[in-house]
Amino acid sequence: MSLLARWGAVIPAGGIRRTVLAVFAVALIGGAGTAIAVAEDDPPAAGEEAPADGDAAVTYDEAQVEAGLQVYKEGGCRACHGWAANGVREGENPQGPSLRASLLTPELLRLTIACGRPGAIMPRYDQQAYNMDGRCYGIDRFNVGDMQLPPRGRTNFSQQQLDDIVVYLMARVVGLPNQPTYDECLLFFGDEAPCDAIFR
Ligand code: HEC
Repeated sequence: MSLLARWGAVIPAGGIRRTVLAVFAVALIGGAGTAIAVAEDDPPAAGEEAPADGDAAVTYDEAQVEAGLQVYKEGGCRACHGWAANGVREGENPQGPSLRASLLTPELLRLTIACGRPGAIMPRYDQQAYNMDGRCYGIDRFNVGDMQLPPRGRTNFSQQQLDDIVVYLMARVVGLPNQPTYDECLLFFGDEAPCDAIFR
């Protein structure tokens, strides 16, 4: 069973809605202390510290993490989110937010990558997005009205690649401090030269 399916299994019905409420609460309260209590019973963490390595119950398959890293590279996410996914865009590209600071659950990360954000420049990477089966927020290209569909991503991801990139983000990105380390750089590039240049 994939990790994603496992996450699905531990999220109670209504879990995502509760997470959204918890995120809202975090925004309202603005202080981590109280917000953690609000979000406490949502397993994949909304606003809790370091879900990536702070949750001892979750282990990641290294081969899948590496596969997800390749998907991150193929998708061109770096352009807007940065190699470290900390919201430092690369080159003349639109600015994407830090994914390290994201409060989204694995399910919502996957949905956002598959479908993009209507009305925003976050692209969609699922070829079947908005294609008549309601998988993207219940919106289809023929009932979209005036809403602007997000642009197509640089490539299309398979369902497996979507699973892989979410595992990558959960294992190596979400919950980390915004400032990347040299070791994280080595893990990303697999080579010292670019990291020596970046951390010079
Ligand atoms: C053209 C620039 C661009 C590219 C390329 C891009 N993104 Fe985004 N992304 C954005 C922007 C802008 C937003 C914020 C959208 C909004 O306004 O809600 C965003 C939002 C997101 C979010 C939601 C974060 C949150 O906490 O709400 C996720 C997850 C995400 N992007 C992942 C990815 C991944 C993974 C890739 C590569 C497969 C990618 N993005 C490629 C621009 C981009």
